Amino acid sequence: TYVVTDNCIACKYTDCVSVCPVDCFYEGENMLVIDPVECIDCGVCEPECPADAIRADTEPDMEKWVTFNAKYAALWPVITEAKEPMADADSLDGTPGKLDTHFS
Ligand code: SF4
Ligand code: F3S
Repeated sequence: TYVVTDNCIACKYTDCVSVCPVDCFYEGENMLVIDPVECIDCGVCEPECPADAIRADTEPDMEKWVTFNAKYAALWPVITEAKEPMADADSLDGTPGKLDTHFS
């Protein structure tokens, strides 16, 4: 599976949802996640994210993000169409540790 990681937080560029063939992105207040069960591992979303927030779970230290994505995919509504990024997306892109400081 692919997963969304912390640099999506407070950015939500949403380019990713436009390309997913199975519509498996789910939207929280300030972040998107992928449903790891629905994701067919096609990989097309990964290069589309301007924040470089999407990762393959085969990369190191991704276990916690698979768990995180699965948890919130079950709670949040599906998002199938791109929308405007969050207001501070460009200025917060790349801020380290956003899970602790900007996730809600
Ligand atoms: Fe969707 Fe493919 Fe990305 Fe999985 S890897 S979330 S199926 S675009
Ligand atoms: Fe987030 Fe990147 Fe998609 S910032 S909303 S994972 S395009």
